[in-house]
Amino acid sequence: MALSPALQLDAAGFSYGAVAALSAVSFAVAPGERVALLGRNGAGKSTLVRLVTGLLHPDEGTVRVGDWDTCDYAPEDLARRVGSVFQHADQQLFARTVREDVSFGPRALGYGEREVARRASDALEALALTAHAAQHPYDLPPALRTLAALAGALALEPAVLVLDEPTVGLDRALRAQVAGALHEHVARGAALLVVTHDLGFAAETLDRGIVLDRGHLAYDEPLATLLASAERLKPLGLVPPAVAALSVALELPGLPVREREAAHTLARVAGAQPRP
Ligand SMILES: Nc1ncnc2c1ncn2[C@@H]1O[C@H](COP(=O)(O)OP(=O)(O)OP(=O)(O)O)[C@@H](O)[C@H]1O
Ligand SMILES: [Mg+2]
Repeated sequence: MALSPALQLDAAGFSYGAVAALSAVSFAVAPGERVALLGRNGAGKSTLVRLVTGLLHPDEGTVRVGDWDTCDYAPEDLARRVGSVFQHADQQLFARTVREDVSFGPRALGYGEREVARRASDALEALALTAHAAQHPYDLPPALRTLAALAGALALEPAVLVLDEPTVGLDRALRAQVAGALHEHVARGAALLVVTHDLGFAAETLDRGIVLDRGHLAYDEPLATLLASAERLKPLGLVPPAVAALSVALELPGLPVREREAAHTLARVAGAQPRP
């Protein structure tokens, strides 16, 4: 039996006054799915994030988180099910220490101090921030502040995690840290929706691609298929990651888009052993 969706949009539409930002967008995300939300600047990605977090309500259609219609809930109640990190998250921390900031969400949901502490510690640990827990957020470099904002969302232990450009300004090592933490969270059954222009990160971390084009859903398919299709990405202002481009250029079997898979396939084709 198919799992009932963690997130479901049914013909959802939203306009800012006369500006139609989203029109008739429908898709569902199952628990454990890892979805990239792609599209040009202004395509409607952040608007969709605001709909999922309940900051905005659709003018048309419905947005459901599990069996909750977002129109029936305030954002602070939806936070029981949806954790989010917005664009420019490094500017959104406000507490005196990183640990306090990460503790804010679970405390606001009414958990006892022991549970709040457990969740904050786990989230900090998942992002290798434990050593920074006592620091003032603004004493951290912006990249670590971005990680701290993500830790705050993880500490909600949400069924749906929605991230808007989580890797901007992160180096390769920190991106790998984020990927690892997301992997762990999804392994516990959460659904993941990530807005990103970072297609290399998307290829390594996510499985399904949803593309918005001027507020409309343009594609919804396995990310690997989409990333191997430069001719479809180009009009959307997207460039395939290097590994996908290489796979296509060499016509590698299965067109792998992840580094490890491409390395194994290349080694097989060349008759060599890849290094572990
Ligand atoms: N607060 C707002 N008031 C009016 N129009 C807005 C507002 N926010 C977004 N828009 C418009 O809605 C459309 C969708 O914007 P949105 O921010 O959702 O796009 P996006 O895909 O997140 O873009 P980006 O990649 O630049 O972050 C755009 O035409 C944008 O100008
Ligand atoms: Mg945006």
